[in-house]
Amino acid sequence: MNVLIQKLWPEIGWINNTDLREKTAAVWDLALKRSVLKAEDLSSIPFTLLCGPDLKVSFIAHKRCVVHIARAAGEKMNEFFKPDLVVNIDVLTAGAILADVGKLLEYELDNDSRAIQGKYGKYLRHPFSGVSLAEECKVPPEVCHIIATHAGEGDQMKRTTEAYIVHHADFMAFEPFRNRLIV
Ligand SMILES: [Fe+2]
Repeated sequence: MNVLIQKLWPEIGWINNTDLREKTAAVWDLALKRSVLKAEDLSSIPFTLLCGPDLKVSFIAHKRCVVHIARAAGEKMNEFFKPDLVVNIDVLTAGAILADVGKLLEYELDNDSRAIQGKYGKYLRHPFSGVSLAEECKVPPEVCHIIATHAGEGDQMKRTTEAYIVHHADFMAFEPFRNRLIV
């Protein structure tokens, strides 16, 4: 794994399976090579374009938080539900780390260097571009499934346990920014 990816995503080190760990890192490496964004931009651009111009939380802060929430949730479910319901923590972690990797192809920079959704991203939102990048790096289908179903598009499909966890971790860290009760 190259140093840049290791610095960007220390959580990749949580994946115990060497092959899956290397493939997960390779997808981020490939996405950064194809993107208009650089690794350092991920600490400054907002994590979503759907919450207005005042959103300060960065892309990478949000993504890492989702990985931490998902993993903690998966471990708790194993603690209480195993063997009736078993969460594969490696698959869960890789899927959470890769869920939004396709956003690197979704974004373009406008004249003021602000991230906007580009033409490619309008045709193929990040669940699709993410699967495309992941398959190119030979990521297994159980992880591609998490990328494919983590967002609203996945509501049309039956999700695995790991995909449910990533979906909810992602949305619980998104909805309060988008629309919460303030009294
Ligand atoms: Fe997403």
